Amino acid sequence: MKNFIIIFLLFSYTLNLFSAEEALKPEQYNFSFSKPLGKINKNSAQRGLQVFIEVCASCHGLKHVAYRSLEELGYNKDQVNSIAAQFQIDDLPNEEGEILKRKAIYSDYFVEPYKNLNEAKTANNGAYPPDLSLMVKARKDGANYVRSLLLGYNEPPSGFDVGEGYYNKYMAGNVIAMPQPLYGDDVEFSDGTKATLEQEVNDLVTFLTWTSMPDLENRRAAGIKVIFFLLVMTILFYISYRKIWSELKT
Ligand code: HEC
Repeated sequence: MKNFIIIFLLFSYTLNLFSAEEALKPEQYNFSFSKPLGKINKNSAQRGLQVFIEVCASCHGLKHVAYRSLEELGYNKDQVNSIAAQFQIDDLPNEEGEILKRKAIYSDYFVEPYKNLNEAKTANNGAYPPDLSLMVKARKDGANYVRSLLLGYNEPPSGFDVGEGYYNKYMAGNVIAMPQPLYGDDVEFSDGTKATLEQEVNDLVTFLTWTSMPDLENRRAAGIKVIFFLLVMTILFYISYRKIWSELKT
């Protein structure tokens, strides 16, 4: 019994140590897509794309997204080509065997900001900026998490050592290697929307939710059809069940 109590105390002590640096639960926000039948707001996603390109793309890739899929957000082919043309990509080797750069086009995938992992780490104090294509899906409560994280930079409490990182209570361990990327007025939205910090972050998260789940709306629509089908079948089966048994009884 005595041993058991000692083990229990030790155990809860270790747990407490961890919980001192545990990440805060993300704040819940009501996005256009949060409700069961909600959709990705395309205007918002377009603004989010602008924030991504102008701020995040210098460090983060989006390697699972092809420029051409941006048509789903309401751009036409010419617009997609001019979005892609903002990025430089390796061309095929020329006749001398050199690899020159060309502008990215419609059919390319988002160009990576760094040549390789080591270059990415060297540029970021040893930390690696992860690819953001699937980030919203990869983290628990991803949309709210990324939103809270981008809004969650603060001064560390006194005595808290952040080393070379930055204090962020939503990050596991409360220290993140990424400097605060957004402050508000970081971009000038082409549709005239005021670029407050909240607005930029909400639009960006809408865009990153689309990159993680481009088929969200189709899936939800399919789900509703299935439920409707099951409902109709249930009613039909119930009616035929009543009918069969009423005949047998009489
Ligand atoms: C100066 C380079 C830089 C810029 C610009 C930048 N990031 Fe990061 N980001 C990083 C680094 C480095 C990490 C890794 C942090 C770590 O592991 O502590 C990171 C990590 C992240 C993470 C993952 C956090 C986690 O849970 O692991 C997200 C999400 C993120 N960044 C989003 C963004 C968004 C959105 C933008 C644009 C608004 C952006 N970043 C701009 C460097 C950058």
